[in-house]
Amino acid sequence: MGVRLKDADQMKVREDVFDEVTLIALYKLVHKKLISVIGGPISTGKEANVFYGEQDGRGIAIKIYRIQTANFKAMSEYLTGDRRFSSIRGSRKEIIFAWTKKEYSNLARAYEAGIPVPQPLAFDRNILLMEFLGESERPYPQLRVAAVDDPAATYREILGYMETLFVKARLVHADLSEYNILYAQRPYLIDMGQAVTLDHPRAASFLFRDVKNINRFFSRYCDVQDEEEIMQRILGKARQEP
Ligand SMILES: Nc1ncnc2c1ncn2[C@@H]1O[C@H](COP(=O)(O)OP(=O)(O)O)[C@@H](O)[C@H]1O
Ligand SMILES: [Mg+2]
Repeated sequence: MGVRLKDADQMKVREDVFDEVTLIALYKLVHKKLISVIGGPISTGKEANVFYGEQDGRGIAIKIYRIQTANFKAMSEYLTGDRRFSSIRGSRKEIIFAWTKKEYSNLARAYEAGIPVPQPLAFDRNILLMEFLGESERPYPQLRVAAVDDPAATYREILGYMETLFVKARLVHADLSEYNILYAQRPYLIDMGQAVTLDHPRAASFLFRDVKNINRFFSRYCDVQDEEEIMQRILGKARQEP
């Protein structure tokens, strides 16, 4: 299992793995007792690594955005169109830090709206801590490989999440697919760094792309609704509830 962090010295074990910025952020989170265990790696993605961890004996996911990510230019577009982050300019580091904060804020909005997402716990620099969705240190499977009993019901559930996200949380996920949904009994939405508020000029087109992705996946397993009708229903409800 992972390194148990009784004091900051034990962090040295990880010095070969993490850059200086990441180590400082990890030290801070350990010092504040927000991380008590750093476990093994769960995922190595394009922009971030995810580790299992613990906080007071409770499982957490530690998502660490790489400062040297290749994709930081693409991140800028999702930041500048979103009024909460439109003033973010500058260095690679600042963009990554803003991105981390954005994912935290997005998860918090979705969580408060009652959508099943990992509860966000804390962030510092390029590190986001959230509730661990899984069992025995293993994350729930992604929807693409999960055994789903009733695909039609799961499809409707996900459409419901998208609608609540749009109408109540005033967000579009903008990277929704069978990769960013975990499944155990019910679907959970994850990976919300790129999610934008409705004032983003491309919010509606991001929503349409999400709808098409979900329809593409579920059309293999059940009947799906017309994409235009889904869009009109969600946009119509959002107008009624300003
Ligand atoms: N809160 C979480 N609980 C459990 N596993 C998680 C959690 N967040 C991420 N993971 C695991 O890490 C993987 C990548 O996470 P994701 O947020 O989609 O990052 P990426 O930006 O790399 O796609 C997920 O598919 C899942 O296996
Ligand atoms: Mg992902």
